[in-house]
Amino acid sequence: MAEAIVDIQDLNGVGPVTANKLREAGYDSIASLAIAPIRELIDKAGLENSVALKISRAARETIQTDFITAKQLYERRKDLQRLSFASSNLDKLLGGGLETQAITEFVGEFGAGKSQICMKLSVITQLPAKDGGLEGKVLFIDTEGTFAAQRVYQMATAMQLDPEKILDGIIYSRVYNSDHQILTVDHAFKICQEEKIKLLVVDSILSHFRGEYIGRESLSERQQRLNSHLHKLLRIAQALNLAVVITNQVQANPQAFFGDPTRPAGGNILAHASTHRVMLKKASQGLRVAKIIDSPYLPESEAYFQITEKGVEDAAPKNRRDD
Ligand code: GTP
Ligand code: MG
Repeated sequence: MAEAIVDIQDLNGVGPVTANKLREAGYDSIASLAIAPIRELIDKAGLENSVALKISRAARETIQTDFITAKQLYERRKDLQRLSFASSNLDKLLGGGLETQAITEFVGEFGAGKSQICMKLSVITQLPAKDGGLEGKVLFIDTEGTFAAQRVYQMATAMQLDPEKILDGIIYSRVYNSDHQILTVDHAFKICQEEKIKLLVVDSILSHFRGEYIGRESLSERQQRLNSHLHKLLRIAQALNLAVVITNQVQANPQAFFGDPTRPAGGNILAHASTHRVMLKKASQGLRVAKIIDSPYLPESEAYFQITEKGVEDAAPKNRRDD
């Protein structure tokens, strides 16, 4: 019976040799096979087209991903969990906290607070649900080398948590180029499943891609690779009911005659892949303002916060607080 199949080798079409090839390529669970694109099974595990098709189908049948009723879809959404920012302004902005099964993108200029938010969320993820957490660990993929363990230690201490325990719950990976970044995410499914990861951070998503693919002629290749990378992140979020956070820089928008002269980097590919996009800006009085710029159901609104010892906290502009 389908329920009895737990090992990839039990799948129709997977013998010991194929199982080895798959494991070496990072596919060691039925779920990871069910969500992998066929093209990837062929390229990474060196399978024949027909074998890859057969295995993919068998994996999907086993965990029944192909057709579900709208009620099942509704049930799945009921599993959706929310991660608090420990800032009621930011929680409210995101409709009650950061969602699992989705990609949330924080966009902003340098120093806007993107990395600080990622570190803060890495602390809160580990807390029990009653304190706004997801009772899980964190996988932190750092492309710029800006993750600071001592800063996380400081935030945890200020929140009266055991800082060493919090640091132990963050699995850290510094990636040095876009290939390395893609490979790390390709192998992330396994570690996310084994380690009960509830938050996966990529800070920042584009820096390597932007640095490596320069000039118009390489743009379409860059966007293709980025697209597949982002979809893999989304599949992990959905298959494992975890939250994915990515950060992104802004770039000049020469078309803007009015309003904001900047826009998120990464073009349409990134715009479509992110479930919710939040723009962060430095405001007066050392405050920061967060705005929803794109979301299927969150209203466009804004929230004030400040960067403090505890990470990020609610703030209100002075003139508002005084009235
Ligand atoms: P880039 O990665 O450069 O694009 O910027 P970012 O948006 O990731 O900015 P980041 O989150 O690194 O925010 C940096 C800002 O956070 C600094 O300008 C400081 O104002 C503030 N900050 C960083 N560490 C501390 C700290 O320990 N205490 C306080 N109060 N503020 C801090
Ligand atoms: Mg940063």
